[in-house]
Amino acid sequence: MTRRDDMDARQAAALLAWQVEMGADEAIAEMPIDRLAGEKPPAPPRKEMPPAAPEAAQPRQYPPQAGPRDPAARQQAAQAAQCATLEEIAAALDAMTDFPLRATATHTVHTDGNPRAHVMLIGEAPGREEDLRGRPFVGRSGQLLDRMLAAIGLSRQAEEPESSVLISNVVFWRPPGNRKPTEQEAAHCLPWLERTMEIARPRVIVCLGATPAHHLTGQTKGILKLRGTWLEYAGKDGAIPVLPTLHPAYLLRQPVQKRLAWRDFLSLKIRLEELRQT
Ligand code: URA
Repeated sequence: MTRRDDMDARQAAALLAWQVEMGADEAIAEMPIDRLAGEKPPAPPRKEMPPAAPEAAQPRQYPPQAGPRDPAARQQAAQAAQCATLEEIAAALDAMTDFPLRATATHTVHTDGNPRAHVMLIGEAPGREEDLRGRPFVGRSGQLLDRMLAAIGLSRQAEEPESSVLISNVVFWRPPGNRKPTEQEAAHCLPWLERTMEIARPRVIVCLGATPAHHLTGQTKGILKLRGTWLEYAGKDGAIPVLPTLHPAYLLRQPVQKRLAWRDFLSLKIRLEELRQT
């Protein structure tokens, strides 16, 4: 994780750009400080960061694998289990030419980033740019996501697992017109996403928006209620902490909400620092 004193110029510029985007374009505190009042001005009241809720205090989340599964999804899970690498999963997905979403898509969009990364980010579905380029989060929302990641010392290009990320989606093909994927489409893709997580073994999962948060944790609350709360994904090899946050496309439409996403990213940064010490 990047400390302030070993940040390079590129990371410092990314952090500054992100803070300006969040609206922090003035170098002032939230409360005025009377510098003539004495040696030590009273500290302005601190705005608490949302707590990274301790996992023990969280109710056990519904494990998606234990839920009812239709035979079609079980069949997908059996096929996905045959794949031993992310490349094999991507190739198997790309070969599904009879699946309606695959048939209308230009490219299969599976993962991007470092397969050994400690952090895995999961979005909803590829958009137009992603469909054209075959990589997740490469459009405008992806560019914002990259800046947010850089501000906490993470990047999809980094080679070290501690400072890199792996990115994927709930569904691997663009739904026509960028509509929300149907339950059936998500159910078809989920076994493949689960297999992807089993192979990549991330230490932390970040859900970008409600769709991945709902599918991975079984929670049904809206994203504004779920965001910033640490939940769990019940993976085959054990529980993985999940942090739901706001989708970057939503942040582009509602820039004032970037401050909430920033809090979540700081919570992620703290969590990763804690994990590094264990
Ligand atoms: N939005 C998503 O949820 N995923 C992408 O890959 C791009 C935009």
